[in-house]
Amino acid sequence: MSGQSIVIHGAQWGDEGKGKIVDLMTEKADVITRFQGGNNAGHTLVVNDEKTILHLIPSGILHPGKVCLIGNGVVLDPVVFCQELDKLEARGVDVSPQRIRISRKTQVIMPYHRRLDAAREAAKEGGRIGTTGRGIGPCYEDKMSRIGIRACDFADVELLKIKIEAALAEKNVLFTSLYSAPAMTVETVFEEIKDAAARLVPYLTDVDEILDTSRKQGKTILFEGAQGTMLDIDHGTYPFVTSSNTVSGNAAAGSGFTPRGLTEIIAVVKAYTTRVGAGPFPTELECESGNHMQSVGAEFGATTGRKRRCGWLDICVLRQAVRLNGPTGIALTKLDVLGGLKELQICTAYETDGKTVDYPPQQENGLAHVSPVYETMPGWAEDISGAKSWDDLPQAARNYIERIEALLETPVTIISVGPGREQTIIR
Ligand code: GDP
Ligand code: IMO
Ligand code: MG
Repeated sequence: MSGQSIVIHGAQWGDEGKGKIVDLMTEKADVITRFQGGNNAGHTLVVNDEKTILHLIPSGILHPGKVCLIGNGVVLDPVVFCQELDKLEARGVDVSPQRIRISRKTQVIMPYHRRLDAAREAAKEGGRIGTTGRGIGPCYEDKMSRIGIRACDFADVELLKIKIEAALAEKNVLFTSLYSAPAMTVETVFEEIKDAAARLVPYLTDVDEILDTSRKQGKTILFEGAQGTMLDIDHGTYPFVTSSNTVSGNAAAGSGFTPRGLTEIIAVVKAYTTRVGAGPFPTELECESGNHMQSVGAEFGATTGRKRRCGWLDICVLRQAVRLNGPTGIALTKLDVLGGLKELQICTAYETDGKTVDYPPQQENGLAHVSPVYETMPGWAEDISGAKSWDDLPQAARNYIERIEALLETPVTIISVGPGREQTIIR
């Protein structure tokens, strides 16, 4: 796997198991890069039965010596970042600037972004998005409005204060006039972030330069997506989406890597579907099978602890994900969770307005008005969490995988049968 540049992205509504797959693939990689999203992400790694949840630091960090990069497309909360450094350090993980680097161009989540995120959600009577409350949307808004604070500003305290003041001029009008909240002062905002900001200065770097050099040296680079295709700001179930482009194409823009250098794209697909937060979800189950997925799959949000909504595998969603991301292979996760269900359903099309369609309708809320068309397959009773090879899998599980490959015209190259590193079948 030398000299490869591989994007690993979520193909559904997030929480597909990206963290596990990135951790696994890091063994043969040199550099791991986050390129979008922020600490709305919760990526779980299980190594020797020990669980680690990462929100900002790339999922390669548990492999000693590998370089972890935060790209310009990420929104970084400096306080949360420092807490994550501390937690890892306390467990003996090297989190020095030799191992972790942050792009100077990365946008910073400020205390007023979190506050605005919470105030907006609280003020909505209906139509709440169910955000993670981490200030993600407001931070990306400031980036696009060109009033954002960037990581490079940490190195210039005076400039930082001027920028905070400029940002607050607008934010305080919103807080006081619209949200009946007190105004924030430059001093309180600066106090809250100043220690973290100072601590992060040695981590600042030119990520695009490191990536270019690494590529020229024949190193293997992973790009770790956060969230999933259906949460993409443009292509997802707008407005019930996150505020960044989650599709594979953003790996280039969100890190400053040449798209010509990308060699592989791995779509991480959960063997069923989950969603946290509000928004349409055609194959959602509110019955025994859904409860089975929720409890056996331990489907609770890794960031907010919310119960994840569960449902059958949706091929229409995945067809759209294949079209948008162009995966060279699929990593199919949580297959073990389906064990014990007598029958499995796969949604292969939707009925809407008297027509049958293969892709999610693109008009706003179109997905809220479809009925899934299902294909039924026999399930398996065996516990497959110890399976080590294709031949160890029951015939019904192999049929399920082969049906997914045929419907998506994409090979399933990795099969995950448990949270641990070793619970993986590489084909
Ligand atoms: P991410 O956000 O895409 O990295 O996914 P999360 O970490 O939020 O959620 C995936 C959850 O499933 C985590 O708790 C993982 O430890 C767990 N997990 C990953 N792969 C498997 C698998 O194949 N089987 C089971 N049972 N759990 C898995
Ligand atoms: P990982 O990387 C699942 C969802 C939130 C909400 C919507 C907008 O672990 O897969 P935001 O805070 O981003 O403005 O919230 O997006 N969401 C996720 N759902 N996994 C995630 O990340 C998510 N990050 C955001 O629940 O519906
Ligand atoms: Mg997650």
